[in-house]
Amino acid sequence: MPYLADLGVDALWITPFYPSPMADHGYDVADPRDVEPVFGDLAGFDALLADAHARGIKVTVDLVPNHSSHQREWFTDALASPAGSPARARYVFRDGRGADGSEPPNNWPSVFGGPAWTRVPDGQWYLHLFAPEQPDLDFTNPEVVEDLEETLRFWLDRGVDGFRIDVAHGMAKPTGLPDMVPMEDTGLLADHGPGDHRFDQDEVHLVHRRVRAVLDRYPGTMAVGEVWVADDARLAEYLRPDELHLAFNFKLLTAAWGRDELRTAIDHSLATVASTPAPACWVLSNHDRPRHVTRYGGGELGTRRARAAVLLQLALPGAAYVYNGDELGLPDVDLPDEVLQDPIWARSGHTERGRDGCRVPMPWGGHSPPYGFSTSSDTWLPMPAGWAALTVEAQTRDHRSMLSLYRRALAIRRSSPFCAGDHLQWLPAPTGCLAFRRPGGLVCLVNLSGAPVPVPAGDVLLASEPVVERYLPDDAAVWLHP
Ligand code: NOJ
Repeated sequence: MPYLADLGVDALWITPFYPSPMADHGYDVADPRDVEPVFGDLAGFDALLADAHARGIKVTVDLVPNHSSHQREWFTDALASPAGSPARARYVFRDGRGADGSEPPNNWPSVFGGPAWTRVPDGQWYLHLFAPEQPDLDFTNPEVVEDLEETLRFWLDRGVDGFRIDVAHGMAKPTGLPDMVPMEDTGLLADHGPGDHRFDQDEVHLVHRRVRAVLDRYPGTMAVGEVWVADDARLAEYLRPDELHLAFNFKLLTAAWGRDELRTAIDHSLATVASTPAPACWVLSNHDRPRHVTRYGGGELGTRRARAAVLLQLALPGAAYVYNGDELGLPDVDLPDEVLQDPIWARSGHTERGRDGCRVPMPWGGHSPPYGFSTSSDTWLPMPAGWAALTVEAQTRDHRSMLSLYRRALAIRRSSPFCAGDHLQWLPAPTGCLAFRRPGGLVCLVNLSGAPVPVPAGDVLLASEPVVERYLPDDAAVWLHP
């Protein structure tokens, strides 16, 4: 907690810590109103919350409405109950197709691979957009929505400041569950556009309104949605005044490292929120994607670009999320087959390695695994050799480190009047570069041109690489003020 405060974090999002058989990294929740014993208990959670609040850090927790664990009591009851029973009506059970019902009710694939349906011994099928251990709940059932409200109130009454809503474009399924239009990419991060009936159905907004109505009774709280909807206008619908406060905009996270790609991502993100009360919400990495150091080329090149990228991200108007370890410039880790835990690995028939590479624990100090993360060398994913220079301890001592860059950038972003204002103005820039000004006066220039470029007038506030004789090297960014 002192580390986070010192870094300049003002709010936390904690991924699921609820009782779970961990079929999907805790996104298979067996009890949404308790703490998984591996992590502690409710008293421990309360202590964490009090500690964070004492340091001025807000705490948001992950809400996983779309599905539960197959080990939630509701689902074990559903399995023990007959077809058509109220217990089954909390989930999406259907008879199969074909003369003997042996074919799934529709053609939907699971985003983790394989069909989205699993058959139970009495012949019915249940829907799971994710792993079979994550049965989808039926949000047309009032009891399901009421239970979600109870979960919200449970954590709000304990004092949390808000929620990150998992699969916020899921939950509503079209009446009759029609076949979806076959498409090449139906996976976790696909553009779930028209024809993909699994996501972004109009009725999902009814759920968001119910969530918002609860939050509105707890002033100062918020919800940010994980909404994988590419279309600007469709995405903006989630940000109407009675729905989500924020939606992650994944366009920056999915953009390649290129001038046009980044500019397009930023323009779309700003256009999305322009007609809404919400600020933009920028993400470079998260627990579902390769870390950006790796995406941008890995090694020295990836790190250099990641340094520039964070100055870009933190200069933009709106909210910025930092995934733990971004601030250390952690790369993805090549993990051996036998330690992989992501359900994508098994469900893809061992063709897709999944997301474990970006989920390796934080290195705190020392020269060898587990780098102070644990007293056991057997961490839940193995930590690699060669991270000694990436530890918090090593980077704290080095004023040129990624961690030092994050600390300085976050401090400026938080306190400088230059960073004020909720929009940006694009500026003319050398070919292959991006430049914009914030209303407070901050100018950000990012060089993606392949060669050094002259730095415009203004004092250099912060630069991702040394500015020599007023030239900014390639793959670097600088903040200037008038
Ligand atoms: C999105 C989460 O970020 C991801 O980690 C999880 O696998 C799916 N939702 C399913 O809950």
